[in-house]
Formats: sequence, structure tokens, C-alpha cells
Amino acid sequence: MLLEWAADYLAPYVPLSRGEILPAMERPPKPELGDAAFPCFALAKRLRRPPGEVAQEVAEKMRHLGSEVRAEAAGPYVNLHFSPNVWAVRLLNKVLEPGFGTSGAGQGKRVVIDMSSPNIAKPFGVGHLRSTMIGNALANLYRASGYEAVTVNHLGDWGTQFGKLIAAFTRWGDRKTLERDPMRESLRLYMKFHEEAEEEPELEDEAREWFRKLEQGDEHAVSLRGFFVDASLKEFNCVYSRLGVSFDYVLGESFYNDKMSPVVELLAQRGLLEDSDGAKVVRLDHLELPPCIIMKSDGTTIYATRDLATAFYRTREMGADRLLYVVGAEQSLHFKQVFAVLDMVEEGWSARCEHVAFGLMKFDGKKMSTRRGKVVFLDDVLNEAVRQAEAVIEAKNPTLLNRRETAEAVGVGAIVFGDLRNSRMLEIDFSLEETLRFEGDTGPYVQYAYARAVTLLEKGMAGAEEFDEPAPEALSGRLAWECLKQLAGYPEAIRLAAEQNEPSVLARYLLDTARQFNRFYRHERILSTDREETHARLMLTAAVAGVLKNGLELLGVKAPRHI
Ligand code: ARG
Repeated sequence: MLLEWAADYLAPYVPLSRGEILPAMERPPKPELGDAAFPCFALAKRLRRPPGEVAQEVAEKMRHLGSEVRAEAAGPYVNLHFSPNVWAVRLLNKVLEPGFGTSGAGQGKRVVIDMSSPNIAKPFGVGHLRSTMIGNALANLYRASGYEAVTVNHLGDWGTQFGKLIAAFTRWGDRKTLERDPMRESLRLYMKFHEEAEEEPELEDEAREWFRKLEQGDEHAVSLRGFFVDASLKEFNCVYSRLGVSFDYVLGESFYNDKMSPVVELLAQRGLLEDSDGAKVVRLDHLELPPCIIMKSDGTTIYATRDLATAFYRTREMGADRLLYVVGAEQSLHFKQVFAVLDMVEEGWSARCEHVAFGLMKFDGKKMSTRRGKVVFLDDVLNEAVRQAEAVIEAKNPTLLNRRETAEAVGVGAIVFGDLRNSRMLEIDFSLEETLRFEGDTGPYVQYAYARAVTLLEKGMAGAEEFDEPAPEALSGRLAWECLKQLAGYPEAIRLAAEQNEPSVLARYLLDTARQFNRFYRHERILSTDREETHARLMLTAAVAGVLKNGLELLGVKAPRHI
């Protein structure tokens, strides 16, 4: 916001349009250097003069602006200093406006977000947490940017793993045990299948045969699969409600069963399908990618075929302008292939698609792998986080009401924030202890800053009538000004986070905001005997609280009022 105002000020004094000035504006590296900086390199090049000289001249021309904005040349830069006496209250009023932070950038555009998408009969692992929470945050960020975001859970409810499960169940399973503890029992069967298949490779044939039967509607296969799906969904829904995440659509891979043959036919019509050892493939040699298998030699379809049908459906039936896939980086080859095939069907198709990849997440050094059974169950992780959060809260604030509920919000929030604060491509080794610290780059740190602001407001507002417009000088102190400037950066944080599909941009912004507020709180007494000053500082506190709460909610983290 400040940069925009700075561009407005500069525009009459440089031979450039505001549209050219704004993208060049920078935030100076140190607050002493001012509030906005305009580098003169490009302008100097155009004028064929040294940048330092141009900067001097612009600053000179702006001298008469006097008290509102002071311009100063520093080498090739024109630094602008906004006078807090004039601007603090203007900024504050802006931040307190309803809907502050949102924009209409995506008006009229629909983005379909593929997220979470766990696999039936396998546990909901920490890996799926990342897709769920990054996807959820992106949906919120896109909505705040004016888009219509449609979220879809692309459940893994079809595919060869059902062949394996049915084969394993038929050999070693029984209905009673399965009904008693469906998730653990199906995981056991799945693991046993892989163990035994190493010794007895024919098992793989058996599984393929079961999957083929399933695709042809065999009764035993269909009913067992139905059982697995229902049991898993029950469990997934518990996780989603704990995370506070819901979907506009839950359309698993099986939804596309009757939508694949038109895709296969279309590819055939276009002459894109080739035989390869009995399988049908689309060659992608021109992109130096391995061929995309569309149909296996036994006539069954695969993951990629379903994703092609899915992309058609989302574009044609759901009216998507953009397609996002929030899926681990290990699937990047798959998406390259799928997007390449789409481009061969219709030029430029893939420009609408993006694989929003993310790195592997380890948990206290442990990796996820369903096959070998070294799985980390998300529920266990959340329970442990909540238990530890409760212990901290008990020590910090023994009289707190709703302790359990607050611990749930802090424990779960810590995990979600801990996931989102890292650039998504980074591999994370998650440490519960660090994630839960109230001091540090953590969710609880931000939540605690919010709760502190709320407490101050409750204390300060007790018995106070409505706030008047604060006196301009009341907020002109350096720390209040820094805090306000930080708040003014909220719309930009949302914009960048959405543009880059990086919720971490917002998470880091919130950490900075909480830190800035804590500095202000520590060094300047918010509740003093000076009524006007107290009011002004409380209004700033209210503005901080509003941004922190709104930002946490965009990330999918709850903001309890008291901790
Ligand atoms: N179920 C898959 C997995 O867990 C993820 C699906 C992602 N979405 C998609 N359209 N392929 O690996």
C-alpha cells in the first residue's frame, strides 16, 4: 500500500507512468533509509545520464512537498520518508476497513483445486496432510483474491491396489477382523501382500486378475471394494473435521470409470495412440519424456488415463479456467506426461494446468511408506501435539477455561502452521517439540500474539465508550509506525502467496507481524494513563488482531481468543 502511495507521489516528477513506476518500487533494506525506494537505473538509461544524478534531480524537484513526504537521494535511489504524523492514522483507517487484504484480481475466474486425495484402505499419512493444508490455504487465498475456488478431493478409490487388497483378503483375511478394525487390518493385508509377493511373484498376477474383474463388475470384488471405501471415508472424515477442512466435491478416481473410453477414443482418432508390447501409449519423445501409458496390455486403465478424463471433466463440465494439482513432487513426471498429452489434444491446454508440488515430509526422522509399514498415522501425531500443547497451556495459564478446546486449536494449529511456513518444495523434517514452541517461528507464537492483543483490548475497552479518531501524534512513535507499515503489507502478502501458490509467504508475513507487534507491546505501554494515547494504541492493537486472525484463518489455523 505504501509503495502504491509512493508511486503516486513520484509520478508527476519522473517521465514514467505510474504503471511503470510501481513495479520498480522497493522497500528499503533498513527503516532509517525510508519507507519506499525508487531505483533510478532504468530511467537513467533512458535519459542517458548517470543514475545518481537523476536521483538527485528527482529528489530536488520533490523538495517542496514538505511535511507529508520527504524525498532524499541516496546514490542511485530516491528514498521516500512518509511522515508518521500525517500517515499513521490514514494507514490505520485503511487497515481497519472491512475486507482489508482482499482484492478482485481473480474476478470471474474459476480455479479447480485438486487436494488431499488420500488412497482408500491406506492410512491418511502425514504426506496427505501437506496436500490437504496447502490446498485448503490456496483455496482461501484464491477466494480472498476474488477467484471462485472449487476444491475437489480426488480420492484414490480405484486402481491396482484394490486388486492386491482383494487378493490378500481372499487368501488371508476374514470379514470379522476386517470389520473390527478396517484400517489397520487392510494395512496389514496390504503389507503382507507385498512381503509374500517378493517370494511368490504369481501373487501379482492374481491381483491383476482381481482388478480386471473389478473393472468388469464382478460382484465379490465390487462389494469388498465398497466396504474398503466406506471404512476409509469414515476415518478420513474424522481427520478432516479435526483439521476444519471441507471439500466442494469428493470425486474419487472411480467417478471417471465411464469417462475414460471417450478419452481413449479421442486419442485414437487423433492418431496419438501407439501399440507398445500390447499396451497403448502416447509417445512423448519430442519432449524427451517416457511414453504415457493409456491402457495396459490386459485392457485395464491406469492412473494417468483417469487423470486425463479428470482434466477434461474439470474443464468442460466444471468450467475451470485453471487447474491446480496439489500433489507431492515425486509425481512430477506423471503430471508432465498428463499435461503433455493434453497439449497434444489441444494446443496450449497445459497453460491452464499447474502441478503445485511439495517436498517430502519426515516426522522426527521417520519417512512415510505404506508398503513397508513404517507409517506415521496423522491422528497419532495430532493427539501427541494436542497433549503437549495442553501441558504448556496448563503451566502458562492454569485458570484458563476451555483448556481442552484451546489445546486442540493450538496443537493442531501448530502442526498445520509448521507445515505451511516452509516453502512447499523444501523437504521438512518435522520436530514436534520445535513446532510447538511458543517462542520461535511457530503457529503458537502467532496465536499467542493474537490472544495477547485480545486480552489487551478486553482490558482497555472495559468501560470505554466508542473510539474516536485517534490524535495523529499518538501513533507517530517509531515502533507504532513500523507496526503499521507491516500491517499495510497484508494485501501484498495475500497477493504474492496466491500468485506463487505459496502459503508460506503468508505464514512468514504473519510471523513478522506478530514479532513487530510484540516489539511494540514490549517497548511502548499500550495501556497508559493518557486516554488519547491509550485509545490510539488500542486501535492499532485491534488492527493487528484483525490481520493476525484473518491471516491464520486463511491458512486454516484457528485463533483462540485466550490461551
Ligand atoms: N491418490 C494419489 C496419491 O495419494 C494422489 C492423487 C492426486 N491427484 C491427481 N489428480 N492425480 O498418491
